[in-house]
Amino acid sequence: MIKFIDIEFGSSRYQELLDLRYRILLQPLGLKFLESYREQEANFLHIGCIDNSTDKLIAGLLLAPIDDQEIRIMQVAVDVVHQGEGIGRKLIEHAESVAKEIGYSRIVMHAMLSVVGFYEKLGFKQNSEVFEEKGITFISMVKEL
Ligand SMILES: CC(C)(COP(=O)(O)OP(=O)(O)OC[C@H]1O[C@@H](n2cnc3c(N)ncnc32)[C@H](O)[C@@H]1OP(=O)(O)O)[C@@H](O)C(=O)NCCC(=O)NCCS
Repeated sequence: MIKFIDIEFGSSRYQELLDLRYRILLQPLGLKFLESYREQEANFLHIGCIDNSTDKLIAGLLLAPIDDQEIRIMQVAVDVVHQGEGIGRKLIEHAESVAKEIGYSRIVMHAMLSVVGFYEKLGFKQNSEVFEEKGITFISMVKEL
Protein backbone atom coordinates (compact mmCIF):
# COMPACT_ATOMS: atom_id res chain seq x y z
CA MET A 1 0.00 0.00 0.00
CA ILE A 2 1.11 3.54 -0.71
CA LYS A 3 0.05 6.93 0.58
CA PHE A 4 0.66 10.49 -0.60
CA ILE A 5 1.92 13.17 1.74
CA ASP A 6 2.64 16.90 1.62
CA ILE A 7 6.32 17.42 2.41
CA GLU A 8 7.46 20.43 4.37
CA PHE A 9 10.37 22.35 2.86
CA GLY A 10 13.52 21.68 4.92
CA SER A 11 12.10 18.63 6.77
CA SER A 12 13.72 15.18 6.88
CA ARG A 13 11.20 13.97 4.27
CA TYR A 14 12.30 16.91 2.09
CA GLN A 15 15.88 15.66 2.39
CA GLU A 16 14.67 12.17 1.41
CA LEU A 17 12.95 13.70 -1.63
CA LEU A 18 16.13 15.57 -2.60
CA ASP A 19 18.07 12.29 -2.38
CA LEU A 20 15.49 10.53 -4.57
CA ARG A 21 15.50 13.38 -7.12
CA TYR A 22 19.29 13.26 -7.21
CA ARG A 23 19.38 9.48 -7.79
CA ILE A 24 16.58 9.35 -10.36
CA LEU A 25 16.82 12.65 -12.23
CA LEU A 26 20.20 14.34 -11.82
CA GLN A 27 22.81 11.62 -11.42
CA PRO A 28 21.88 9.71 -14.62
CA LEU A 29 22.31 12.97 -16.57
CA GLY A 30 25.56 13.91 -14.83
CA LEU A 31 23.93 17.00 -13.26
CA LYS A 32 24.45 18.47 -9.78
CA PHE A 33 21.83 19.98 -7.48
CA LEU A 34 22.30 23.76 -7.43
CA GLU A 35 22.18 25.23 -3.91
CA SER A 36 21.06 28.56 -5.40
CA TYR A 37 17.95 26.83 -6.75
CA ARG A 38 17.08 25.38 -3.36
CA GLU A 39 15.85 28.71 -1.92
CA GLN A 40 13.20 29.03 -4.65
CA GLU A 41 11.80 25.69 -3.57
CA ALA A 42 10.56 27.13 -0.29
CA ASN A 43 7.64 28.55 -2.32
CA PHE A 44 6.77 25.29 -4.06
CA LEU A 45 4.54 22.41 -2.98
CA HIS A 46 6.41 19.15 -2.43
CA ILE A 47 4.47 15.92 -2.74
CA GLY A 48 5.78 12.53 -1.75
CA CYS A 49 4.61 8.94 -2.10
CA ILE A 50 5.38 6.64 0.83
CA ASP A 51 5.51 2.84 0.77
CA ASN A 52 3.55 2.01 3.94
CA SER A 53 5.35 -1.31 4.46
CA THR A 54 8.81 0.31 4.69
CA ASP A 55 7.89 3.95 5.47
CA LYS A 56 10.28 4.92 2.66
CA LEU A 57 9.73 7.69 0.14
CA ILE A 58 9.42 6.00 -3.25
CA ALA A 59 8.25 8.84 -5.50
CA GLY A 60 7.70 12.56 -5.51
CA LEU A 61 7.31 15.79 -7.43
CA LEU A 62 7.13 19.56 -7.05
CA LEU A 63 4.30 21.91 -7.91
CA ALA A 64 5.48 25.44 -8.70
CA PRO A 65 2.78 28.14 -8.96
CA ILE A 66 3.17 30.37 -12.03
CA ASP A 67 0.14 32.66 -11.68
CA ASP A 68 -3.46 32.43 -10.38
CA GLN A 69 -4.43 29.89 -13.04
CA GLU A 70 -1.31 27.90 -13.83
CA ILE A 71 0.89 25.60 -11.82
CA ARG A 72 3.92 23.70 -13.09
CA ILE A 73 4.76 20.06 -12.31
CA MET A 74 8.50 19.58 -11.92
CA GLN A 75 11.03 16.97 -10.87
CA VAL A 76 8.78 13.93 -11.19
CA ALA A 77 10.68 10.90 -9.91
CA VAL A 78 9.69 7.32 -9.14
CA ASP A 79 12.28 5.09 -7.45
CA VAL A 80 13.78 2.80 -10.06
CA VAL A 81 12.68 -0.39 -8.29
CA HIS A 82 9.06 0.84 -8.34
CA GLN A 83 8.89 2.15 -11.91
CA GLY A 84 6.25 0.47 -14.07
CA GLU A 85 3.96 -0.30 -11.11
CA GLY A 86 1.45 2.49 -11.81
CA ILE A 87 2.88 4.78 -9.10
CA GLY A 88 3.84 7.58 -11.53
CA ARG A 89 0.27 7.67 -12.83
CA LYS A 90 -1.21 7.80 -9.30
CA LEU A 91 1.30 10.49 -8.29
CA ILE A 92 0.39 12.75 -11.22
CA GLU A 93 -3.35 12.15 -10.64
CA HIS A 94 -2.86 13.06 -6.97
CA ALA A 95 -0.95 16.24 -7.92
CA GLU A 96 -3.75 17.18 -10.33
CA SER A 97 -6.37 16.87 -7.60
CA VAL A 98 -4.23 18.90 -5.16
CA ALA A 99 -3.74 21.63 -7.80
CA LYS A 100 -7.45 21.71 -8.59
CA GLU A 101 -8.44 21.79 -4.93
CA ILE A 102 -6.29 24.85 -4.28
CA GLY A 103 -7.76 26.68 -7.25
CA TYR A 104 -5.54 26.10 -10.29
CA SER A 105 -7.15 25.38 -13.66
CA ARG A 106 -4.14 24.39 -15.75
CA ILE A 107 -1.03 22.25 -15.22
CA VAL A 108 2.01 22.87 -17.40
CA MET A 109 5.35 21.11 -17.59
CA HIS A 110 8.53 20.56 -19.54
CA ALA A 111 8.73 16.84 -20.32
CA MET A 112 11.87 15.08 -21.47
CA LEU A 113 11.20 13.52 -24.87
CA SER A 114 11.63 10.04 -23.37
CA VAL A 115 8.56 10.50 -21.13
CA VAL A 116 6.17 12.40 -23.43
CA GLY A 117 4.20 9.15 -24.00
CA PHE A 118 3.70 8.75 -20.23
CA TYR A 119 2.16 12.22 -19.91
CA GLU A 120 0.06 11.79 -23.06
CA LYS A 121 -1.51 8.72 -21.45
CA LEU A 122 -2.49 11.00 -18.56
CA GLY A 123 -4.16 13.54 -20.85
CA PHE A 124 -1.36 16.09 -21.27
CA LYS A 125 -1.00 17.69 -24.72
CA GLN A 126 2.18 18.87 -26.38
CA ASN A 127 2.11 22.64 -26.85
CA SER A 128 5.57 23.64 -28.07
CA GLU A 129 8.32 22.69 -30.45
CA VAL A 130 11.12 20.65 -28.88
CA PHE A 131 13.77 22.72 -27.15
CA GLU A 132 17.05 22.11 -25.36
CA GLU A 133 18.09 23.02 -21.83
CA LYS A 134 21.53 21.97 -20.52
CA GLY A 135 21.85 19.59 -23.46
CA ILE A 136 18.57 17.78 -22.68
CA THR A 137 15.65 17.83 -25.11
CA PHE A 138 12.24 18.81 -23.74
CA ILE A 139 8.78 19.63 -24.99
CA SER A 140 6.19 21.76 -23.17
CA MET A 141 2.99 19.99 -22.21
CA VAL A 142 -0.28 21.24 -20.76
CA LYS A 143 -3.43 19.82 -19.19
CA GLU A 144 -6.59 21.75 -18.38
CA LEU A 145 -8.01 20.67 -15.03
C1 LIG B 1 8.54 8.53 -16.05
C2 LIG B 1 8.07 8.01 -14.70
C3 LIG B 1 7.68 9.20 -13.79
C4 LIG B 1 6.83 7.13 -14.91
O1 LIG B 1 6.40 6.57 -13.68
P1 LIG B 1 6.05 5.02 -13.54
O2 LIG B 1 5.54 4.78 -12.17
O3 LIG B 1 7.23 4.24 -13.99
O4 LIG B 1 4.88 4.89 -14.62
P2 LIG B 1 3.48 4.07 -14.48
O5 LIG B 1 3.80 2.66 -14.09
O6 LIG B 1 2.54 4.82 -13.60
O7 LIG B 1 2.98 4.11 -15.98
C5 LIG B 1 1.70 4.61 -16.37
C6 LIG B 1 1.53 4.35 -17.86
O8 LIG B 1 2.52 5.08 -18.60
C7 LIG B 1 3.33 4.21 -19.38
N1 LIG B 1 4.72 4.72 -19.35
C8 LIG B 1 5.58 4.74 -18.31
N2 LIG B 1 6.74 5.33 -18.65
C9 LIG B 1 6.60 5.67 -19.96
C10 LIG B 1 7.46 6.29 -20.88
N3 LIG B 1 8.71 6.70 -20.54
N4 LIG B 1 7.01 6.51 -22.15
C11 LIG B 1 5.75 6.10 -22.51
N5 LIG B 1 4.88 5.50 -21.66
C12 LIG B 1 5.30 5.28 -20.40
C13 LIG B 1 3.21 2.84 -18.71
O9 LIG B 1 3.47 1.82 -19.63
C14 LIG B 1 1.76 2.88 -18.24
O10 LIG B 1 0.92 2.61 -19.34
P3 LIG B 1 -0.48 1.76 -19.15
O11 LIG B 1 -1.32 2.59 -18.21
O12 LIG B 1 -1.03 1.69 -20.53
O13 LIG B 1 -0.08 0.46 -18.56
C15 LIG B 1 9.15 7.14 -13.99
O14 LIG B 1 9.43 6.03 -14.79
C16 LIG B 1 10.44 7.90 -13.69
O15 LIG B 1 10.58 8.46 -12.61
N6 LIG B 1 11.41 7.86 -14.63
C17 LIG B 1 12.71 8.49 -14.46
C18 LIG B 1 12.67 9.97 -14.25
C19 LIG B 1 11.98 10.74 -15.34
O16 LIG B 1 12.23 10.53 -16.52
N7 LIG B 1 11.09 11.67 -14.91
C20 LIG B 1 10.34 12.55 -15.78
C21 LIG B 1 11.04 13.86 -15.90
S1 LIG B 1 10.23 14.93 -17.08
